[in-house]
Amino acid sequence: MGGKLNACVNAVDRHVEAGNGDRVAFHFVGEPGDRQDTTYAELHEKVQRAANALIALGVETGDRVAIYLPMIPESVVAMLACARLGAPHSVVFGGFSADALRTRIADGEAKVVITADGGFRKGKAATLKPAVDKAISGDTTVTNVLVVRRTESDVDMVEGRDLWWHEALEAVEPTHTPEYFDSEHPLFILYTSGTTGKPKGILHTTGGYLTQTAFTSKYVHDIHPEKDVYWCTADVGWVTGHSYVSYGPMALGATQVIYEGTPDSPHKGRWWEIVQDLGVTIFYTAPTAIRACMKWGRDIPDGYDLSSLRVLGSVGEPINPEAWVWYSEVVGHGKAPIVDTWWQTETGAVMISPMPGVTSTRPGSAQLAIPGIEVDVVDESGASVPDGSGGYLVVKEPWPAMLRGIWGDPERYVDTYWSRFEEFYFAGDGAKKDSDGNIWVLGRVDDVMNVSGHRLSTSEIESALVSHSSVAEAAVVGANDPMTGQAVCAFVILRGEAVAAGDQQGEELVTALRNHVADRIGPIAKPRQIMVVAELPKTRSGKIMRRLLRDVAEKRDVGDVTTLADSTVMDAISAEMKEN
Ligand code: PRX
Repeated sequence: MGGKLNACVNAVDRHVEAGNGDRVAFHFVGEPGDRQDTTYAELHEKVQRAANALIALGVETGDRVAIYLPMIPESVVAMLACARLGAPHSVVFGGFSADALRTRIADGEAKVVITADGGFRKGKAATLKPAVDKAISGDTTVTNVLVVRRTESDVDMVEGRDLWWHEALEAVEPTHTPEYFDSEHPLFILYTSGTTGKPKGILHTTGGYLTQTAFTSKYVHDIHPEKDVYWCTADVGWVTGHSYVSYGPMALGATQVIYEGTPDSPHKGRWWEIVQDLGVTIFYTAPTAIRACMKWGRDIPDGYDLSSLRVLGSVGEPINPEAWVWYSEVVGHGKAPIVDTWWQTETGAVMISPMPGVTSTRPGSAQLAIPGIEVDVVDESGASVPDGSGGYLVVKEPWPAMLRGIWGDPERYVDTYWSRFEEFYFAGDGAKKDSDGNIWVLGRVDDVMNVSGHRLSTSEIESALVSHSSVAEAAVVGANDPMTGQAVCAFVILRGEAVAAGDQQGEELVTALRNHVADRIGPIAKPRQIMVVAELPKTRSGKIMRRLLRDVAEKRDVGDVTTLADSTVMDAISAEMKEN
């Protein structure tokens, strides 16, 4: 407390002042194959110009700026320019829909939106700007939109409101004198799914966040900025992209890869080709991607020279031992240690992980808290469970990068994290300790799903489904899926009128409902499966028993139904399932 700093100066200016201006900050690889290197000196000018452009639009310290961009260097420039001004950014993943963007812009009361004409995805140019236009139509706090030119597609520009990023940056001075902010000054808001329909704006501040992201980049990812080429495949729309693209590695002055596209575009060896061509030494990705690569076969990575890799990271969901072993042997050639890092949007930085080269690893376990962090597995009463037992994962002492609250909702902050156990932070995960005290994270114990390492809320998808005119009621569960970890499975009851009126039915209706969810939230939330049922299993107090629905979705025998108000409901659902 009381210290002052500027996160952008720490991420950029400091390295230029130390004589490392010629070091490459980003090796950017666009999906169509375009390449662009940016040195720290070039980045320094870009962030200063971007900060000046934001000032020209009236952005002041404390104002919020929404960022809705593809994975291109401008994403990091935009975030760091906001940090330079002490204007908290709110990055919204480019895969979220206009509706989702609107909710997040409105909740954070953003003044400016930074977006792009579009980005390249699976060989095609996908648009982004039209979603922004839709999201800020009508009543809005947004006064200006800055638009990065990426795909050269046609864009409607609203006179007086919309400006091209490159023109705005050209029009201002190349230098900007930074101000220093209190270590507790808000750095960003990042929305994540919780157990209710409304996403939570997780608030992070500057000093502690930067300390822990830099510390973990140095000791968990083992970045040596003078020699490593580091690549975290996460999009800046998620916390991993914040902490391990924009802040931690930058605070160390690292050289990193930024890749716009997917691992299989235009071919399934794309990632390994980039590792080979750029000599990547540290690679950080999600288990779901590793499982996809496993499915495509080892011949693909075997066709590239991956000998530069020396540390491999995993994040976002439990990594199954088979995927761990494959990652270690096929990608790491048995010599690169794997760091399975457990953390959350709320924790801001890695909390549990092996230390590379120090910890003897256990495939599938994130193992132990990193130095300085106190985690435990406790039972219902909050008592530490003995080795060999399971319970709830908690953090027992405050940590530097901990969230400082939920934007605009202090009550929800207390309810969500501090009411389950009186004295500990409740992470929402179940975990077990093995006989050596290693922690094995089992997954969420609340109504949050983890699909391909992305957090989705069951109730958010339920709300999206019931907002469709044909749906009376909906229940959503996360069912095990061999590729994505969990998959969204929905059970819906149709409105009587919809059925009687002979509206869309069967496959046609299911497709319409899946698309409706994509419109309301984004394609990542599309249910894998939607089942139309006559009734949902409820307790006598009216609570939907998702546990039973999960049994159905995972094709298991349905468990104990004695607490159901009507115990025949599950027979009917199981029978309907068999028919389908
Ligand atoms: O359930 C845990 C899972 O992802 C959740 C946090 O999601 P999010 O805030 O989106 O952040 C993801 C990236 C940090 C956790 O509550 N999770 C994350 N990492 C792991 C994990 N589960 C098991 N092992 C991990 N390494």
